[in-house]
Amino acid sequence: MTLSRRMLLASLGAAGLCGPAAIAQGDGGIPLRQRAAARGLVFGAAAATYQLGDSAFASALAREAGILVPEYELKRGVIEPARGQYDFSGVDLLVAFARAHGMAFRGHPLVWHHRNPDWLDSALASRDHTLLVNYITTVAGRYRGHMHSWDVVNEAIDLNGGRSDNLRETPWLKAFGPSYIDDAFRTARAADPHALLVYNDWGCEAGENDRFRAVTLDFLEQALARAVPIDALGLQGHLAAYGPQVDQKKLRAFLAEVKSLGMKILVTEHDVDDQGGPYDIALRDRAVADASRRFLDVVLDCDATVAVLTWGLSDRFLDPEGWREKLFEGHPRRLPLDADLARKPLWQAIADAFGRNA
Ligand code: XIL
Repeated sequence: MTLSRRMLLASLGAAGLCGPAAIAQGDGGIPLRQRAAARGLVFGAAAATYQLGDSAFASALAREAGILVPEYELKRGVIEPARGQYDFSGVDLLVAFARAHGMAFRGHPLVWHHRNPDWLDSALASRDHTLLVNYITTVAGRYRGHMHSWDVVNEAIDLNGGRSDNLRETPWLKAFGPSYIDDAFRTARAADPHALLVYNDWGCEAGENDRFRAVTLDFLEQALARAVPIDALGLQGHLAAYGPQVDQKKLRAFLAEVKSLGMKILVTEHDVDDQGGPYDIALRDRAVADASRRFLDVVLDCDATVAVLTWGLSDRFLDPEGWREKLFEGHPRRLPLDADLARKPLWQAIADAFGRNA
């Protein structure tokens, strides 16, 4: 599917190739992608095709992000709506935008238990292994050589699932047993030997989650002992400004253990929930920034870290639905730019973290 003219103009505008040039920023305004690149890392964000038609946002995204990940366009429910029928139109628009702005691109996810097409669960009852292998081969193979990294398996660990191996009872586990994880990574390696292969999850971040960190390390160690080609751990990085906090000492020790396995580390979906905060936006924004700083200072101090992505760049597209009962105006304020694309204290916290840990 070719890039539409409107999309192309939005892309060119965002690159400052037509329309108003990007507003000059003082030294303090060096974009996050440049701050990350200055120390050999990459910063970026999840984005969605519908957002690229918003030219002001597209410009901000091109300015700040050095890597993109599709928010939903690479979910299997979008990619394979009917068995064997693939639709890459959405993700290809994001790939075109990334290429137009010199950005890297990462894939997410190949194997997950959410956002699958309706036909998949019943098909998996057949235990037809091609449902796993053919999808990964087709999708990862299509972008062979062009992907920075792939979240091959997403959220496979479940401490409350009742299994001794702490694996989540997903349709994949039910159909193929624990070996689905090994097969997914081996198939992805064969499909794209150039991409970093990532195991992605959430739960290692908060200080109180000692058991999740221990189970994750054990999961990774055992996979490596089976020669499963997992190159990196993806920490989703979903934090809560008014919830369980990061314990820097515990996180530092955990990341050192991951590094000792020879693995890289990516922060794949960073945002900081401000629910439960006061009405005062300035106080909420500061709490969000402080929570991110506590986390990123430790993550960026580990030289196994290669990338930080936020799960969106601006509050503009966050769903305000869940906030009406909070009796105050506005949207969630989880991301680096506010709904008007202004940089927030969270943006500064990320900028400082790239500088402070250089
Ligand atoms: C979510 C997206 O934000 C939604 O737009 C989509 O409909 C469903 O997936 N952990 C993940 C992400 O790994 O894929 C999820 O993203 C958020 C939780």
